[in-house]
Amino acid sequence: MAKDKVRICFIGCGRHSMESLQPAVSLIPQVEYVAACDLIEERAKEAVRRFGAKRWYTDYNEMIDRESPDGVIVVGPPQMHEEVGVACLKKGLNVFVEKPPSLTLEGARRLYEAMKSSGKICMVGTHWRHMPIHKALKNISEREDFGEVFRLEATYIAPDTRGAWSQPYVWGFMLNQAIHPMDCLQFLGGRVVEVHASGVAVEGRGLAIIASLRFASGAVGSLVLGGCSPIFYERIGVQGANGWAEAEQFKRLKYACRRGWMEPTDPTAIQMMIFEHGSHYRGVSRPGYVEELEHFAQCVLSGLHPHADAEDAYYAMKTLDAIVRSVNTGEGIRID
Ligand SMILES: NC(=O)c1ccc[n+]([C@@H]2O[C@H](COP(=O)([O-])OP(=O)(O)OC[C@H]3O[C@@H](n4cnc5c(N)ncnc54)[C@H](O)[C@@H]3O)[C@@H](O)[C@H]2O)c1
Repeated sequence: MAKDKVRICFIGCGRHSMESLQPAVSLIPQVEYVAACDLIEERAKEAVRRFGAKRWYTDYNEMIDRESPDGVIVVGPPQMHEEVGVACLKKGLNVFVEKPPSLTLEGARRLYEAMKSSGKICMVGTHWRHMPIHKALKNISEREDFGEVFRLEATYIAPDTRGAWSQPYVWGFMLNQAIHPMDCLQFLGGRVVEVHASGVAVEGRGLAIIASLRFASGAVGSLVLGGCSPIFYERIGVQGANGWAEAEQFKRLKYACRRGWMEPTDPTAIQMMIFEHGSHYRGVSRPGYVEELEHFAQCVLSGLHPHADAEDAYYAMKTLDAIVRSVNTGEGIRID
């Protein structure tokens, strides 16, 4: 009989794990939460108390050997995503690692190669693409009457993130924050093959990067990034031969089409959907966390390949790296 539950272990019970991912797991009936591990014993024990893990460990190798889970969810510093992710794939486990998959392109490539040679799942947590609003945006953009997508845009404005994992300021911002809109653009438009970017960045004072992107599909796009802002602001837009759609602040989805589905009375009116989820969505802090873990569980159960996988994450990091190099050199950079 086909299995209907996935036996999962968590490796890493820090802030994001305990505030967003472990509460999300409790809401997924297909997941059996077998055990939690953290180097800090008290954190692993807290996962048992609060989220129903059956046992706790401080050594992930011991946990895996004893529990033989179907999959592990790895949430810690990026070096840990790469090292523990590769080790778990080599042990034949399905793996979910948080973003970023590594601090370096070489590390992200290593994880991607380990995924390929293991034949196992290696999903990377990029919850923007699993948010209901961005899934709806993609559905609209793929409708036949939207027409071929020829323009994409993402704007992402955020507070400062000085010192992300002791990386240089701009690269830390890219790994910690810009990876979200970048992954979402890839989700909607596919791979980016060329970038031209310019920017200014003074640690703690200001960060602005404007990148123009060329996609393998032939579409063009823009990625506008701002740091040192008092607020978060996000917008993702897509334009097709006959349609236009834009998601703003994870809440408002506006769209219009020249013909076809744009009923009823005023053919020029803009349609709008509001995703009103309040400050807590399905019991967790933001939309997308429950859905990305549901997707992981479904893929482990069905054997389907997940998205974003370690290859998608590697290409998102390659694009971000090309943007930084383009800012530094003033030249356009091609991405192989
Ligand atoms: N997708 C999102 O929206 C989002 C939001 C916040 C954080 N994150 C990501 O989540 C990750 C974790 O961030 P955080 O703020 O929770 O970090 P954190 O420092 O609070 O937690 C990391 C935890 O990992 C544990 N750990 C480290 N090495 C370990 C090992 N070998 N075995 C077991 N446990 C180990 C640490 O003891 C710590 O408890 C980061 O990579 C960050 O980018 C993603």
